[in-house]
Amino acid sequence: MGKIKIGIIGGSGMDNPLILEDRKEKKVTTPFGDPSDVLILGTIKGVDCVLLARHGRSHNLFPSIVNYRANIWALKEEGCSHLIATTMCGSLQENKHPGEIVLIDDFIDRTTKRKLTFFDCTSDAASGVCHVPMNEPFCPKTRAVLASCVKALGYPFHEKGTMITIEGPRFSTRAESRLFRQWRADVVNMSTVPEVTLAKEVGLLYASVALVTDYDSWREDREAVNVELAVKTFKENADKACKVLLYAIPKIAEQDWDEDIQQNEEIARSSVLK
Ligand code: ADE
Repeated sequence: MGKIKIGIIGGSGMDNPLILEDRKEKKVTTPFGDPSDVLILGTIKGVDCVLLARHGRSHNLFPSIVNYRANIWALKEEGCSHLIATTMCGSLQENKHPGEIVLIDDFIDRTTKRKLTFFDCTSDAASGVCHVPMNEPFCPKTRAVLASCVKALGYPFHEKGTMITIEGPRFSTRAESRLFRQWRADVVNMSTVPEVTLAKEVGLLYASVALVTDYDSWREDREAVNVELAVKTFKENADKACKVLLYAIPKIAEQDWDEDIQQNEEIARSSVLK
């Protein structure tokens, strides 16, 4: 059974380096530019981890200008086998409430300004044309471990859900929010795409812990999403995401991932037409 390494992409306020022991900062660059910040190498109960603050440690990068390609490339180069992302999100459905966790299993892409592939003929590091399958964007086995851990911790959560990623930086209108409900999306954020698709292009096992902070804009009987509301709910619940990571990462490391890693790398390799 090979050793695994877990990349943690910390969303706003969920990028606390103190969750890692034996921390060491490493500044890296990639053929696609610089990642959002330094990589923080360390361990969680003996499991090798690499933490990256998606929006930078000083939270200076808004979702449209995050260099997702550099982030994913840097984590792959550092030897990660898995990525666990954390993100805040708005609820689009009656049964998903602020403070709850959704272990999303699918997405709808409503982004418009992002670099969606490594294979865009700009770098020799990724040559050819890539059409990566997206029938299973999130690693089901990692999600299953996360689900059992969130359950054991006693946090209210949903085993699956569809995330709609909007371009932002503005929040959605009422009409957009209602439309997303009709499309049967469960939650909305600004960062899952293209993070998850780029991870797939390089064969990483990706899962996301999405923390609901608001009801977006569709509910007439609740305050519509605004920064103050989202941040307040998030602050009340941020420790949940950290506790899930601390509990789940050693459990993930107990399993044998050799076949999953091999399969995902083969999917990535076979998706490129040279
Ligand atoms: N992040 C947190 N809440 C959100 C919402 N309602 N829309 C987009 N991104 C979000």
